Amino acid sequence: MFYLIANWKANKTPAEAKSWMERFTHLSSQDTFTRAIRSNSLRLVLCPPFTLFPVLSPYLTNLSHVYLGAQDVSRFTHGSYTGEVPASSFPKNVKYAIIGHSERRRHFQETDNEVREKARRLQERSIEAFVCLRDTRDAVPPEASYVVYEPESAVGKDYTEPLESILSVKRSLNIPDGKAFLYGGNVNKTNIGRYIESGEIAGFLVGRASLDPDEFMHLASYFPV
Ligand code: PGA
Repeated sequence: MFYLIANWKANKTPAEAKSWMERFTHLSSQDTFTRAIRSNSLRLVLCPPFTLFPVLSPYLTNLSHVYLGAQDVSRFTHGSYTGEVPASSFPKNVKYAIIGHSERRRHFQETDNEVREKARRLQERSIEAFVCLRDTRDAVPPEASYVVYEPESAVGKDYTEPLESILSVKRSLNIPDGKAFLYGGNVNKTNIGRYIESGEIAGFLVGRASLDPDEFMHLASYFPV
């Protein structure tokens, strides 16, 4: 199974999210983009800001291959933690969550311990965790469902990380059995084909190229059926 994950970060108003979904729904009916999805070899996961879950949800009821994901989760189950968003508050159709993203580690000083707590909160609610690592200095929590290598040299930048260096980090990460290895960082139409062909990367976390539905669905067309 391949994964293509849209990480919208702090982008899109409700109106923009609605028009993204309208276009996405239209493209989802076109075979060119969705052969891999229809053959059950690809899952799409859309991760909008929390407040946009209710905007996306109605569109997803008819798209069985498309899932909703969160960009983060509180490390607390519930209680007096102003501004936190606990997993218990997620709508039931949120099946995945990104945690440990380098932007959270950098701007919000998140530590491996906090990422581990978040992974536990997700596991308690049967939500699968895409755990992002900047490199081998970040720990893989045992509760991680997927390990996403996201080098800071490429995330949010125009630099394409060479396949060889991605694979060499993959080898040194010692990923436990049963956890899939994913990649994120400037994934776009000029590099995704080569990354997929390696047969070593089970999916991609996509930031900028997910903000336009045509560009995002174009990436989906690269996956083998
Ligand atoms: P980018 O972001 O695709 O814009 O580089 C990737 C990510 O942060 O997951």
